[in-house]
Amino acid sequence: MKINRHYLELQQSYLFTMIGRKVAEYQKAHPDNRVIRLGIGDVTLPLCPAVVEALEKASAEMGVKETFRGYGPEQGYDFLKEAIAGYYAEKGVELALDEIFVSDGAKSDVGNILDLFDADNTVLVPDPVYPVYVDTNTMAGRKVIFADANAENGFLPMPDESVDADIIYICSPNNPTGAVYNHAQLKAWVDYAKAHDAVILFDSAYECFVVDETLPRSIYEIEGAKEVAIEFCSFSKTAGFTGTRCGYTIVPKALVREGVALNGLWLRRQTTKFNGVPYIVQRGAAAVFSKEGRQQTMANIDYYRENAKILADTLDRLGIRYTGGKNSPYIWMECPSGMKSWEFFDYLLENAEVVGTPGAGFGENGEGYFRLTAFNDHENTREAAARIEKLLGK
Ligand code: MLT
Repeated sequence: MKINRHYLELQQSYLFTMIGRKVAEYQKAHPDNRVIRLGIGDVTLPLCPAVVEALEKASAEMGVKETFRGYGPEQGYDFLKEAIAGYYAEKGVELALDEIFVSDGAKSDVGNILDLFDADNTVLVPDPVYPVYVDTNTMAGRKVIFADANAENGFLPMPDESVDADIIYICSPNNPTGAVYNHAQLKAWVDYAKAHDAVILFDSAYECFVVDETLPRSIYEIEGAKEVAIEFCSFSKTAGFTGTRCGYTIVPKALVREGVALNGLWLRRQTTKFNGVPYIVQRGAAAVFSKEGRQQTMANIDYYRENAKILADTLDRLGIRYTGGKNSPYIWMECPSGMKSWEFFDYLLENAEVVGTPGAGFGENGEGYFRLTAFNDHENTREAAARIEKLLGK
């Protein structure tokens, strides 16, 4: 018996697990602390009334013989897929229902999609970025190369024709930097993928935060993208589903490699390894797209945007450089006084009892940077901003 030794190449724990442990240790040693968490991007506002109503109604249906549901379609109920297709149609993107796969979240799908690809593929990952991309490919023993994102390129690396990548990750709005690709930039990536016969894995989990209407919120807004890209999205940040769990993945039928449609492979994978998202949760997710649901979730997103502004204004006053916070719930700031990311993490925790995420946890280029989230409530965000200002304004 041999274990998968690629797991031993990973950092000992997942970034947010490591942060959780450090904070728990601090709290144990300082029982009277008032730690404010601006670390993991977890929402704090409750589910909106339209969603709660749909969840309750669906729960009641499950208790009645005539409306009870057992196994559902692995790829999601049509009522939810129709609502998702309607949402894309507003962006000018036509999707067939069998191109939409409902899942328990973008994180799972981003990892699971790798079942479709040979271990020999070369994977291009922006640095810094959401650590799941690198970790899941490392687990599979795939070669990972990096596209440098830095202040010089506005944290938006562009294709390098001399690099031959097979699988390309793009996260836009980017986690952690908040940078968003425009149409022309995404088109360059689509063209590169076509020329190199590569597949783009496009993570649009934060698309609902884009306020600038000139920026794309789906890669399929770019001509030809259906032939090269799979898109992942989630209700987590859009509608507060981090604990409820629901997301979706788009695998266009036009995406064909080696004469095989990836849509069929993903369907085969999902029907074999996944039994679908609970009916109740899918009803809740569909309510996000109702008129009331849209208004209520937008109000919540606006609430988080105000938090981002509170943090951004504080950094402006302190003269600290940052990106994000406008079309994204994340603020990506330079650590003050040349501190390293984890050094600043400890400094902020010990002196202001504020938790953020060390930029180095997102890749080598994240060293010297730090991420704050806008997902806490107003009161805590204001208090955290005041503590940061007091500490760093000294
Ligand atoms: C983050 O903080 O980067 C995200 O919440 C992690 C996730 O969505 O899994």
